[in-house]
Amino acid sequence: MVDTHAHLVHTDFDEDRGEAIRRARAAGVSGIINVGFDIASSRRAVEQAERYPGVFAAVGIHPHDAATWCDDSSRELEKLAVKISVVALGETGLDYHYEFSTRLEQMTVFRAHVRMARVTGLPLIIHNREADDDTLQILQDEADGEVEGVFHCFTSDRVFAHRCLDVGFYLGFTGIVTFTKSSELREIVSGVPMERLLIETDCPYLSPQGSRGQRNEPSRVVEVARTIAEVRSSSVEEVKEVTTGNALRLFPKMQPKESHLP
Ligand code: NI
Repeated sequence: MVDTHAHLVHTDFDEDRGEAIRRARAAGVSGIINVGFDIASSRRAVEQAERYPGVFAAVGIHPHDAATWCDDSSRELEKLAVKISVVALGETGLDYHYEFSTRLEQMTVFRAHVRMARVTGLPLIIHNREADDDTLQILQDEADGEVEGVFHCFTSDRVFAHRCLDVGFYLGFTGIVTFTKSSELREIVSGVPMERLLIETDCPYLSPQGSRGQRNEPSRVVEVARTIAEVRSSSVEEVKEVTTGNALRLFPKMQPKESHLP
């Protein structure tokens, strides 16, 4: 399995980051994408990816942190993006639920990420909350079909799921699919083509149903695979295998350099 969205950079892992990675490996997780949310955490994501086998980095500025964007930011990101361990740009996107940064700041920063993805060829990890139309509009304006990526932690509706699939993007699902009340989301999961599904934890957030309220960690991505298998009436093994293949296809810089990937 690949946990395609984990924030190992979070201070919640400062005490036991190595242990959490070992537990993930023991649970069958062969790859983890460690996702930055601002320049400092993106730098840490790269350092950690260079240190721990099987860990890769995504660099970018989260819509919550869009207000931190300055003249140096794109230069800094460009410097990080060429590192061997960096497999994606993100997380980036739009969050109109919290609006911790203004919509204009978020749009400016998201546009810059899409342009950078186009130039570097790196896939995008997109965060979208209550901003479906603007997110797709910016993708269309700036990417023009030349950028690949994932809508991470997908929680929009079925119609939007199809619009994302239509522009060639993958959909990433977290422990939210395991929540008792998430029947609508499970319905969506059952209808997405298997070859466009990715699994992720978004740890330390979003622990699956059985461990809600606790800190989440990459080993629990197996719970997401289990629920997806249940709703699609397929085997867990098949979900693990196909989603791993999907991750390696979308994030080609993860391709096995050594023995730590399948
Ligand atoms: Ni995240």
